Amino acid sequence: MTKNVGVLTAGGDTPGLNAALRGLGKSAMYKYDLQLIGFYDGFRGLLNDRCIILDDSSLSGILTIGGTILGTSRDKPHKMEVGGKLQDMRDAMVDTYHKHHLDALVCMGGGGTQKNAYGLMEKGLNIITLPKTIDNDIANTDVTLGFDTALGIATDAVDRLHSTAHSHHRIILVEIMGHNAGWLALGAGVSGGADVILIPEIPYDTQNIAEAILERSRSGKHFSIVAVSEGAMSKNDRKREQKLIDEKQGAKDKKEKGKAKKVLEEFYAHQSNRTIRLSRDLEQLTGLESRVTILGYVQRGGIPSARDRLLGSMIGGSTAALIVEGKSGVMVSVKGQTTKPVKLETVVNKRRVVPADHLWVKTARRVGTCLGD
Ligand code: F6P
Repeated sequence: MTKNVGVLTAGGDTPGLNAALRGLGKSAMYKYDLQLIGFYDGFRGLLNDRCIILDDSSLSGILTIGGTILGTSRDKPHKMEVGGKLQDMRDAMVDTYHKHHLDALVCMGGGGTQKNAYGLMEKGLNIITLPKTIDNDIANTDVTLGFDTALGIATDAVDRLHSTAHSHHRIILVEIMGHNAGWLALGAGVSGGADVILIPEIPYDTQNIAEAILERSRSGKHFSIVAVSEGAMSKNDRKREQKLIDEKQGAKDKKEKGKAKKVLEEFYAHQSNRTIRLSRDLEQLTGLESRVTILGYVQRGGIPSARDRLLGSMIGGSTAALIVEGKSGVMVSVKGQTTKPVKLETVVNKRRVVPADHLWVKTARRVGTCLGD
């Protein structure tokens, strides 16, 4: 009997999502007896029952296109803005699932989506997730969909900034996405040959960075490229952050908690322009002119790399096979050259960050790159 399968893409878009939708949909059509229904704009489309039957024509010609044909959003099912209020809308989503007689719901997304999907699993739905984020920070998978493309774009930027930094004898700081994980900045920094790489996992000392840049100047290299992960922090800021987190956790009552939460939020708001502040500090400490390039959403845009198309097709196809086997409550993870279903419990509320002894870190240090510590 034909099985009905729902699919949605949630969280920040990434290149390769359409390849995964196509991989899932075409396998569903040609190899397995599955009917695929796509919900628009993440969990919002599931709530409002806005959907489309994903057939051969809607899945054709999308392999090489960036973004997601279904659209996405950062809505959380358990805390969704409806009628100006934050509400738990999971039961309404369960209704949509049953209205379409779905046998499974596939959720493609990052860390937040894994958690949100788990919340629907707890409501009794058959859930399968796919790991997708340019940040590469999902637990229990070797890699995430979209990382390779973003890494290529960030590396290209580091490459290109070399010639202009060299010509003007400048320091150029390039801010790279990654949320609270340094995979993108570290990967692009190592492959693009950045002179300094700053990642959240290794708090920095601005004085050390200035010294590394001055040392380059003394050896006749009058320019430097600093790859800064958007989540990188100075040692002092990291200490302050920890103190504020401890204060929030140790708050005795609601009022105290609310106050501590506000102070922490203000701290993070102030952190949002830290790359620009770091640039000014380095200018003062080194006497060299400094500029900032914030790569931003360019890293998530455009056509997916060959590797992400391959990965999307693989995990999409594997998902269809798992549905036919009746598997649910799992994420389709990537292990070496193959895909493997892993329990959602082993993924949610965890973040895969760069270990201090990772080979990329060692490699950077071995070639003389300053990591700011
Ligand atoms: O998680 C992917 C990501 O691009 C992060 O690197 C970045 O911090 C965040 O999303 C940006 O979020 P938004 O798209 O909501 O602005």
